[in-house]
Amino acid sequence: MDKIWLWCLLLIFSGSQASTLAQKNTEFVADLYRAVCLSHENNIIFSPLGTTLVLGMIQLGAKGKALQQIRQTLKLQETSAGEEFSVLKSFFSTISKKKQEFTFNLANALYLQEGFTVKERYLHSNKKFFQSAVKLVDFQDAKACAETISTWVESETDGKIKDMFSGEEFGPLTRVVLVNALYFKGDWKQKFRKEDTELMNFTKKDGSTVKIPMMKAHLRTKYGYFSESSINYQVLELPYKDDEFSLIIILPAEDVNIEEVEKLITAHKILKWFSEIHEEEVEISLPRFKVEQKLDFKDALYALNITEIFSGGCDLSGITDSSEIYVSHVMQKVFFEINEDGSEAATSTGIHVPVIMSLARNQFIANHPFLFIMKDNPTESILFMGRVTNLDNQKRNGRDLNSL
Ligand SMILES: *[C@@H]1O[C@H](CO)[C@@H](O)[C@H](O)[C@H]1NC(C)=O
Ligand SMILES: *[C@@H]1O[C@H](CO)[C@@H](O)[C@H](O)[C@H]1NC(C)=O
Repeated sequence: MDKIWLWCLLLIFSGSQASTLAQKNTEFVADLYRAVCLSHENNIIFSPLGTTLVLGMIQLGAKGKALQQIRQTLKLQETSAGEEFSVLKSFFSTISKKKQEFTFNLANALYLQEGFTVKERYLHSNKKFFQSAVKLVDFQDAKACAETISTWVESETDGKIKDMFSGEEFGPLTRVVLVNALYFKGDWKQKFRKEDTELMNFTKKDGSTVKIPMMKAHLRTKYGYFSESSINYQVLELPYKDDEFSLIIILPAEDVNIEEVEKLITAHKILKWFSEIHEEEVEISLPRFKVEQKLDFKDALYALNITEIFSGGCDLSGITDSSEIYVSHVMQKVFFEINEDGSEAATSTGIHVPVIMSLARNQFIANHPFLFIMKDNPTESILFMGRVTNLDNQKRNGRDLNSL
């Protein structure tokens, strides 16, 4: 109950409704991050925004307990229907206005077993709120179905996200699968110079070291040093061109385990990081990295009390009249890469940032595990969140050590 009162107060005192919704969404993000961590040892990348989107899609057709659980987990109890996704709407409208500055591909769909009839009204509002598709497939033919969905995702993401499904995910009882794939590519506001990149040791979470290409720059950018109950860490913000998006990197001090910092994560803390970092001169060493991950959010959502939509007898009557449908999977696949230019490979001439000869006061050397958050600045919504604890696989892919 306390929380509800807090939200009421926030609603009253918050200058803008959007920021309240962003705060609520950040609470959900913090919960979700913790839930995802439970089942992952190493690198993590996922899109909280994407998860909100697919949950929104199902919420639109859910009733009773199924609806109530989603609203509770998304912290939407006091928000009226339609209003709750206004952040998503303003996000989509900025995204489409600024398409020249970056690439943001989103494939978002609800796949339903053929033979069920989707309500006209659901199709309509789904498109309006979530720019997403509702499609019919035959899950009985698992292989063909996996191919159909994977091909669709691949085409929606400019070929960046492949093999979304193998077919093993589907069975005779599969009725509804939620699919969400995201790919982002943008250039840094201040690029790293390729000739400054050098091989350096990265100490993995297990203590072993691996040689990785480390990008280097001396920039004036937002930075902060935090110290809480003897846990020290640094936070750095790297804006993308045009300031629509920023990458925030949270780097524990060398003697601090990343899990200690993860334990500190709350919505309040995340928003504090965003607001308390200030422009300073920083000497930055950041690995070139690539993370790709496919996640089924079923377990994480279960841990967050969203259980009803996964069980037979749940009320999804806003979608179709049959009582035999429930959600089998909530699948998300994300591809994220950081390099000298920004967040994807491209050839270009870097802007030369004049190196100030005096010694930098702040050194930000990401040569051990760190966390990252990519946010949309106008709405403060979190597009991607994750952690890098292990950089082994860098050796296997195309842009490897040889390309230095
Ligand atoms: C890098 O790691 C290797 C292997 O652990 C070690 O032998 C070497 O001294 C390290 N180099 C530096 C510069 O710390
Ligand atoms: C889930 O529900 C249980 C029991 O109602 C509650 O104790 C717990 O705090 C809830 N978890 C979340 C993340 O809301």
